[in-house]
Amino acid sequence: MELEQPDSVRAGRRRRILITGAGGLLGRALQQEFAGDDVVALTRAEWDVADPPSDNVSQGGFDLVLHAAAWTDVDRAEADPHAAASANIAGTANVASLGVPLVAFSTDYVFDGRKREPYVESDGVNPLSAYGRTKLHSEAAAGPDAWIVRTSWLFGPTGHNFVRTMLGLGVERDEVAVVDDQRGCPTYVGHLAQAVRELVDTGRPRGVWHLAAQGDCTWADLAEAVFSDAGLDCKVRRISTEELGRPAPRPTYAVLRSERVGAPTLPHWRQGLRDCLAEMGSGLPRSTRVERGRPDPGR
Ligand SMILES: NC(=O)c1ccc[n+]([C@@H]2O[C@H](COP(=O)([O-])OP(=O)(O)OC[C@H]3O[C@@H](n4cnc5c(N)ncnc54)[C@H](OP(=O)(O)O)[C@@H]3O)[C@@H](O)[C@H]2O)c1
Repeated sequence: MELEQPDSVRAGRRRRILITGAGGLLGRALQQEFAGDDVVALTRAEWDVADPPSDNVSQGGFDLVLHAAAWTDVDRAEADPHAAASANIAGTANVASLGVPLVAFSTDYVFDGRKREPYVESDGVNPLSAYGRTKLHSEAAAGPDAWIVRTSWLFGPTGHNFVRTMLGLGVERDEVAVVDDQRGCPTYVGHLAQAVRELVDTGRPRGVWHLAAQGDCTWADLAEAVFSDAGLDCKVRRISTEELGRPAPRPTYAVLRSERVGAPTLPHWRQGLRDCLAEMGSGLPRSTRVERGRPDPGR
């Protein structure tokens, strides 16, 4: 059932908003996007969500919680599923216990990747990894009247993410080996934050929403685009998931689209990459084409 959202969350007045996981990639982007509201942004050091909320948080008078805290180390979750569950499932239950309108984030890794056309909200789930299982349970822990935003392959100008890793490797190496048999929607975290604000500001119904960039590609395609746009002379050697030999299984096909009326549309991932590099600006690695007399990557 789709629940109507209380007016207190809609745009038009300065809302009091709690952001968890404020030190993470998405947590930072949400702080930027909701800067016009009265935002309390808590890092893990300020609230480890595996613990119940403090009185200060419980009595914080929040209109909305954007729950970006999560265990996101997919491979390490295989070795320590209890710790991942504690952060992702118990953590989300603790956040939901505040009884405040909630946006919780989930992932394409709730699917097994056997489909060959985009996954929509009504598709059956079947996570392959411990991480995917904790995220699926976290959706239930968020409760029936949360917005559950499933997204995919996040990247941005801060923290540990694929684009930043490639920028670093592209400076150091002539060639990198990148997986070419997993397909998804690389999503610029700034575009996701905008879409989340649209969801909340326009009072869209609660429930699961797929919010990911337009277009799709493999990790190897994304790496090539990074090198091209950043002006790095680094080749991509296309390899298989098996060759990379990571502990956690991943869906080979994880393209997300929304079937819901009024779903916010995110820009294409190529635009996301351009916007990300432009935001990084002087934070881009040295030895780019700019220094080699080639075009400006931020254009
Ligand atoms: N990154 C992706 O590609 C991707 C794709 C699909 C969905 N998502 C979902 O998007 C959301 C945001 O992910 P992200 O990319 O922003 O991840 P991230 O950069 O790893 O940020 C997660 C943040 O949560 C914090 N955290 C971890 N355990 C915590 C705990 N028990 N209590 C409080 N904070 C805790 C982390 O702090 P520490 O660094 O100190 O541990 C980190 O600051 C997550 O729900 C994730 O599952 C991410």
